Amino acid sequence: MLEKENTGYTRIAKWLHWSMAFIWMVSWGLGILATHWRDTLNPQHELTFLHKALASTLLLLIVARVTWRLKNPPPALPESMSALAKRGAMIGHILLYAIALIALPLSGWYWSSVADKPILVAGLFLLPPLVDPAPDLYDLAKYIHTWTSWFCGALIGGHLLVALKHHFVDKDNILAGMLPSKKRRVK
Ligand code: HEM
Ligand code: HEM
Repeated sequence: MLEKENTGYTRIAKWLHWSMAFIWMVSWGLGILATHWRDTLNPQHELTFLHKALASTLLLLIVARVTWRLKNPPPALPESMSALAKRGAMIGHILLYAIALIALPLSGWYWSSVADKPILVAGLFLLPPLVDPAPDLYDLAKYIHTWTSWFCGALIGGHLLVALKHHFVDKDNILAGMLPSKKRRVK
């Protein structure tokens, strides 16, 4: 992943980041509510439907985001960051893309496919099954999606804490560079 010398993320990068971050965080919350408050909040699987309808849009958005990102490198990280911290940031971002934004939605798609349950993307159209129905793989698929979702919850929690640390402790402008209409100054 190349870095270009400039200030702040572009408007398109911010839109892609914040729209997908919003969808992601709401989907995560809906998944937890649907599963752990099933009897009280999800008796007719309404929340499961919402969870799948919303989260599955990430499968389409990620194609646009990765295509765009490969042609549009992010801004340079501040000089105040050590080489190790810069490498950590790069690895963190790769994990966010690979696991939170690609593997997790794929694992949900896989689970619904083996369970022979429909996914209505944004409530509008059916996603074709990823694999044939396979009741014997149901438990494995559930296990993968559940544990990947908890791992990703920790990953996003860490991502948020690091962003806040940059802002309040290191006082650099990494967070400002991702906020609306703020440019990141190159130190
Ligand atoms: C195509 C996309 C996805 C599909 C089809 C899908 C499907 C499902 C299904 C069927 C459940 C079980 C709900 C229930 O038992 O009522 C579930 C749970 C869950 N999903 Fe997804 N999911 C998808 C994407 C995502 C994404 C992107 C996230 C994270 C933002 C996520 C996070 C969760 C969580 C946290 C749970 C609850 C896990 C637990 O503690 O048991 N899912 N998902
Ligand atoms: C309130 C929550 C969030 C905050 C404050 C936040 C903040 C940030 C900031 C400041 C950056 C730029 C980091 C840098 O230049 O080194 C960034 C990048 C990134 N964030 Fe978030 N983020 C949040 C939620 C999320 C969520 C939920 C996801 C996806 C599941 C996500 C995925 C990413 C990715 C993939 C990048 C790398 C962008 C790139 O360079 O292509 N973020 N985030």
